[in-house]
Amino acid sequence: MAKKYLDNADMARAISRVDGRAKVMGAAKYAAEVQLPDLTYAVLVESSIGQGTITSLDTKKAEWAPGVISVISHLNTPGVPEYKLENQDVIQKQLRVFDDANIYFNGQPIAVVIADTLERAQYGASLVKATYKKENHLTNLESNLSRAAVPKKAKADPKGFTSDFIRGKAGAYKDAAVQVEEEYIQPSEVHHPMELHSIIANWEAADKLTLVDKTQGSQQTAASISKSFQLPVENVKVLATYVGGAFGSALRVWPHEIVAILAAKKVQKPVKLVLSRNQMSYMVGYRPHTLQKVALGASKDGKLVGISHESYGKTSMYEEFTENVLQMTRMMYDVPNIDTKYRIVPLNVSTPAPMRGPGEATGSFALECAMDELSYKLNIDPVELRLINYAAEDPDKKMAWSSNYLKECYRLGAEKIGWNKRKAEAGTVQDGEWKVGYGVATGTFGAFRSAATVKATYKADGSLLLQSAIADIGPGTATAMTAIAAENLGIPPEKIVFQLGNSTFPKAPMQGGSNSLATVGSATVAVCTNLKVELAKLAAQQKSGWNNAVPDHVKISGADLVNSDETSAKVSLASLFSQSGQLEMVISGSAAQGDEKNKYSFYSYSVHFIEAHVHELTGVVRIKNAVSVVDCGTVVSPKTARSQLMGGIVGGIGMALMEEAVIDDRTGRTVNASFGDYHVPVNADIPQMEMLFVNERDEHLNPMGSKGLGEVVIIGVAPAVANAVYNATGIRVRHLPITPDKLI
Ligand code: MOS
Repeated sequence: MAKKYLDNADMARAISRVDGRAKVMGAAKYAAEVQLPDLTYAVLVESSIGQGTITSLDTKKAEWAPGVISVISHLNTPGVPEYKLENQDVIQKQLRVFDDANIYFNGQPIAVVIADTLERAQYGASLVKATYKKENHLTNLESNLSRAAVPKKAKADPKGFTSDFIRGKAGAYKDAAVQVEEEYIQPSEVHHPMELHSIIANWEAADKLTLVDKTQGSQQTAASISKSFQLPVENVKVLATYVGGAFGSALRVWPHEIVAILAAKKVQKPVKLVLSRNQMSYMVGYRPHTLQKVALGASKDGKLVGISHESYGKTSMYEEFTENVLQMTRMMYDVPNIDTKYRIVPLNVSTPAPMRGPGEATGSFALECAMDELSYKLNIDPVELRLINYAAEDPDKKMAWSSNYLKECYRLGAEKIGWNKRKAEAGTVQDGEWKVGYGVATGTFGAFRSAATVKATYKADGSLLLQSAIADIGPGTATAMTAIAAENLGIPPEKIVFQLGNSTFPKAPMQGGSNSLATVGSATVAVCTNLKVELAKLAAQQKSGWNNAVPDHVKISGADLVNSDETSAKVSLASLFSQSGQLEMVISGSAAQGDEKNKYSFYSYSVHFIEAHVHELTGVVRIKNAVSVVDCGTVVSPKTARSQLMGGIVGGIGMALMEEAVIDDRTGRTVNASFGDYHVPVNADIPQMEMLFVNERDEHLNPMGSKGLGEVVIIGVAPAVANAVYNATGIRVRHLPITPDKLI
């Protein structure tokens, strides 16, 4: 039987990234690179306390400094109209920029200096002096657990993953023959995409605004800004043509964007504001420091009896941030008794944000490490333990899976990594000075689609332009859409251009939650189908054999339109265009979620296998091999999918071994807010990797047969590393990152 799954060797024949050349040649312009006439530069001034009020703000020296055009603070802000509206729920709102003298976290923007050059703005910002009435700040999660609260969201959504939940009996693990009860800690992590968050704000008229902005959703940013500044949404244009990574940090409007818009209003000129690498640590969200308590109980033959799982994550003082830490626990394994509790702890920090595979990655770290611990107590192989508890349907929603090839993922991955080399007893394999171990863990993320429209302009010269507002933060959305259209129509990919990242283009969701391919891909299929229907209508005026043409059987073949049901009905495209009297055809196609959600439970899956070597004297961990297998339905763009999976594994290795944003609780300030001090993996830290895709169609989510990929690639990587380190050393590290000091 032909091999269906895709591995590293299958990638060469796939289409390459359509914007790859523009990116490596420097021709792709990111927000901060755009130049406008009369452009001015804004630099933020930050608070130096964590809680209190500003008692005085001396901006005179800054105002008199060379090149400085204006200094804005709470004393002279033009104001954000939305802040004045009634019924504003302060707890649920973003930080109100320059609204009053209150300070909620160290690093909060308290003023902005606008100058004719970046350097003069930076110098001006250094001259602003604030004095404060300082109050005690709270920044430590673990010493403030007594402040843990049920999020308001839980009350609004009682069935959601942040509400207290019981299936069967609470605490049932206590009755089981074999038990694991542990605490796991995930520190705060910063997204740190290569591209700094940047914005150019330009008021084209008193009620008309254009933004060049790093965002994951051009239309969502336009909608949010139009609300804040009380403008008609069509008067706010947002361009995000190229985005150099985001991982969730650009899923919402942040204070610096509001500041840039206020500044442009005040100086009546376009304003560019680029965050510094330092500011990236606390101005645009982060994965929140989270403590989890997990208890598992199983019978001696490995069948799970009960799981209890609690999560405590930090949030800011002014806004509730929640995420789905407990989702996987509720649906992953076939277990009759589950109880979960989700709490947030408000602290003097900025608001967190989803960060790749958001709460699910955090949750999988605890659950999948606990499963590994259980496997040792039971003396059952960890892959076997997962197979014993495999859920044949979704035990949470009590619904059939739309598709679930987890067993295939375990089988393929185990074979590729050489799982049979793993020794069941930890700390027993030695290679010179290195201890050797293998680990496995599972990831899952919900698969979704929402509504989108794609517009097509098909020209007589055979070129096809497709447009949608969707952003591409790096996964290669334009490439995948080009692949879908090329396959559907029969047009070579070189003839297709997919433009995106523009709020004036047809409707699209944010690029977040792994839904772009499912959503915009469906609209791309729809527009291709509509185009073929229109072409067939024109053809029917010329020849018989086109009246009941089935769109799936119609293809463009070179210079002709062909119908595979009526091969003699072939017509030339040139004749169709001359017949219509037009040089181009403009057509739209839309797709939206159907009722599939009520029939099936949709998830993508990943299984990660890691071989880790740990140096016995220094505690250094070297990942020697990584094999990840993903069930994301059909892979439509193998090369970019492989890159996504590679990025997920690298991110997961960083999460496991290096990443930790550290706040000094004495000052409330992040102390490692730079790439020198915040460690992420570099090439030398990354091993040989094997990226595999099951590549089996999901019949129920969309016409491509695809699920989602962006998040599931990182979910489960960190616990696989932690489990491999345990297998190598016999040391169980439950507090990420697994730095050498924890292993010696
Ligand atoms: Mo993703 S965390 O939805 O950018």
